[in-house]
Amino acid sequence: MRVLSGIQPTGRFHWGNYFGAIQQYIALQNNDQAFYFIADLHALTTIRDPEVLKQFTWEAAVDLLALGLDPKQAALFVQSDVPEIPELTWLLMTVTQMHLLEKCHAYKDKKAKGISADAGLFTYPVLMAADILLYDSDLVPVGTDQVQHIEVTRDLAQRFNHLYKTEVFVFPKPRVLDDSAKVPGTDGEKMSKSYNNTIDIFLPEKKLKKKINSIKTDSKSVEDSKDPETCPVFALYRLFTNEDQQKELAEKYRAGGMGYGDAKKQVFEAAMEYFSEARQRRVQLEADPDYVRDVLKQGALAAREKGKEVLDRARSACGIGHLKSGS
Ligand code: ADP
Ligand code: TRP
Repeated sequence: MRVLSGIQPTGRFHWGNYFGAIQQYIALQNNDQAFYFIADLHALTTIRDPEVLKQFTWEAAVDLLALGLDPKQAALFVQSDVPEIPELTWLLMTVTQMHLLEKCHAYKDKKAKGISADAGLFTYPVLMAADILLYDSDLVPVGTDQVQHIEVTRDLAQRFNHLYKTEVFVFPKPRVLDDSAKVPGTDGEKMSKSYNNTIDIFLPEKKLKKKINSIKTDSKSVEDSKDPETCPVFALYRLFTNEDQQKELAEKYRAGGMGYGDAKKQVFEAAMEYFSEARQRRVQLEADPDYVRDVLKQGALAAREKGKEVLDRARSACGIGHLKSGS
């Protein structure tokens, strides 16, 4: 089975990204073949500062490797290093009906708010379909918000196969990442860059402590009994600990006599411990940028090798590229 997923470099990765997505990528990396990529072409629809995009793309690669993505098991690459993707995007665009894209939520939401959307945002799902179809991907781990895009991908694959009367594309299936596992942010709402409530995985120790201290809690005093089930501090503690540890803290919540400050301290310690190996690996990776560049280069080569095969099928199905000599 071939697994593929992409993540946009639109900011530094936070705890929500890790527990909602990256952890799954790593768990699935020992399938027959796994491709993971940093979706910089998609990020162009939101980031307009080249230096910022360069920085986030780099940090994304280092973060993913530090967190356990193993280049011996999975190809890691940057989307824009695979020129077969934009070519396949065009081929797919020619079979994409407008109404299919008009209902896609990123575009629809912007339109509903009266914000003018550009063609990049409108056709974003076609680029995503190319990302997926280019490698005959079987399984695509994504958050629920991306399921619609996988449906579009399947529609386009089917329409292309049907129009050209050949089985060019494999139909991918989404693997929906558990939405009930939504990680809360510092304000108790879903952690997201767009809400400015994130806790980034690799924050320096002091900043991490400060961030955790900023998590909103109710105004109960130290003596009061507290409810662990409704407390975002406790929900975050859960991510890093085993059942016994959770039971122990839950009892302290209910008994009273413990302030939220103490619970936050425990979250800090648990998170530092949980990511301690990744933090060490990150320091080593930062000291060896050539290694990271080489991983991305090898990843792009592996992606292109498979991608060329599928693109050739698509080109020949629609009657282009037959006069070209060599490649
Ligand atoms: P953000 O909302 O910060 O912009 P993205 O939309 O780029 O994050 O998400 C990248 C991946 O991380 C997606 O697969 C998404 O489902 C997952 N993810 C993001 N935030 C959370 C969260 N709070 N809880 C669980 N998963 C999350
Ligand atoms: N659109 C996805 C997101 O915002 C990122 C992405 C781009 C992707 N291409 C993909 C995810 C292909 C899975 C497969 O999260």
